[in-house]
Amino acid sequence: MYQSKISGLGHYVPENVVTNDQLAERIDTNDAWIQERTGIKERRHIVKGDGNSTSVMGVKAAKIAIERAGIEANDIGLIIFATLSPDMYFPGGGVQVQDMLEIDTCPALDVRNQCSGFVYALSTADQFVKTGMYEHVLVIGSEHHSGGLDFTDRGRSVSVIFGDGAGAAIVSRSESDGQGILSTHLHSEGKHKDELALQGPSTRYWVPQILKENPQENIPYFPYMNGQLVFKNAVVRFSEVIKEGLDANGLDVSDIDMLIPHQANLRISQFIQRKFGLRDDQVFNNIQKFGNTTAASIPIALTEAWEAGKIKKGDLVVLAAFGSGFTWGSVIIRW
Ligand code: UT7
Repeated sequence: MYQSKISGLGHYVPENVVTNDQLAERIDTNDAWIQERTGIKERRHIVKGDGNSTSVMGVKAAKIAIERAGIEANDIGLIIFATLSPDMYFPGGGVQVQDMLEIDTCPALDVRNQCSGFVYALSTADQFVKTGMYEHVLVIGSEHHSGGLDFTDRGRSVSVIFGDGAGAAIVSRSESDGQGILSTHLHSEGKHKDELALQGPSTRYWVPQILKENPQENIPYFPYMNGQLVFKNAVVRFSEVIKEGLDANGLDVSDIDMLIPHQANLRISQFIQRKFGLRDDQVFNNIQKFGNTTAASIPIALTEAWEAGKIKKGDLVVLAAFGSGFTWGSVIIRW
C-alpha cells in the first residue's frame, strides 16, 4: 500500500457578491434573520454572461490546484467531480472538465453525495492512490446553486443559504511515511432521503409531465429542506464521524490543529466547536462570505485556510461533512 497526500489546492468563486440586503429586496427576508440563524453575510452568484458554470468553475479551481501540485494536467490519472448541480443531466462534470483541461483520456467519475460529495470524492481518490492504481487524482467540488433556487417568499428558508463556487485538490502518491490522508470514514442513512432533496426534473418528474399536472400547485423542482431535522441530525453526525476518525488513528480531540467542517450553517460549526472544546483558531469557517456551497464548501475552506498559512506541515487537519441523503463523513490528514 502507498500513502496519499493532498499536493495542491485551488478554489474559484464568481465575482458577483450578493448581500443579505440585496436578497431582502427580492424576497421577504432580512439581514438580521439570515445572520442570526446561519451566520451568512453574503454569498457569490453566477450572473448571466460571466462565462461561469459548474464545470467551468471547477476547471478554474483545478488549474490552480494542478499548478500548485507541480504537475501537468496530463499527469492526472483520474478525475472525480462532486456536485449536485451539474451543467447538464448527462454526461457528468468529470468529462466536461477533462475536455476543458485537454486531458487526452483518463477515467472521469461523478459523485452525487451533495454536501458530503467532496469527502466521498476525496475518500475515493485516497483508495485509488493507496492501492497504487493512480499517482495523481484530481478531485473537484463545484456548485452552481443560484440558477435553481426559489427566490420567492415560498423558498426563502432555502434560497438565502446557498452560494456558488468551486474548490479542487490534487491527491498524489506520497513518499513520506505518516504524512497525508490517514483515514476516511463515510456513512449514509437513506431513510432521510426526502428531508433535503430536489425531486425533479428526473425520471420521476419528467418536465412534460410536470407541465401537464398544473405546475402552480406542486412544483418539485426547487430544493426542499426540513431545516430543523437536518440541523438536529447534522450536529449529532458531525460529532460522531469526527470522533470515529480520531479514534481509528488513536488520536484525541486535543490533537486537532485545524477542523474544517462543511459550511452548512455557522451555528452547526459553533456547536461542534463548543462540544469538542476547540479554540477559534482550531476551526475554520468562511460561510459568512460564501454561504453554503455544498460539495465545494470544504475545498474552498481548505484552500483559504492553507493560503492564509493556518495549515502547516505536520498539522492534524480534520475535514467533516453532513448533508442530503443523509450522508456524512470525515477525513483525517497529517499535513
Ligand atoms: O448543507 C446541508 C445541510 N444543511 C444544513 O445543515 C441546514 C440545517 N438547517 C438550518 O441551518 C436551519 O434549519 C435553517 C437556517 C435552514 C432555518 O433556520 P430555523 O431556525 O430552523 O428556521 P425555521 O425554518 O424553523 O423558521 C423559523 C421562522 C419561521 O417563521 P415563523 O413560522 O416562526 O413565523 C420561518 O417562516 O423563520 C421564518 N423564516 C425566515 N424569515 C426570514 C424562514 N426563512 C426565513 C428567511 N427570512 N429567509
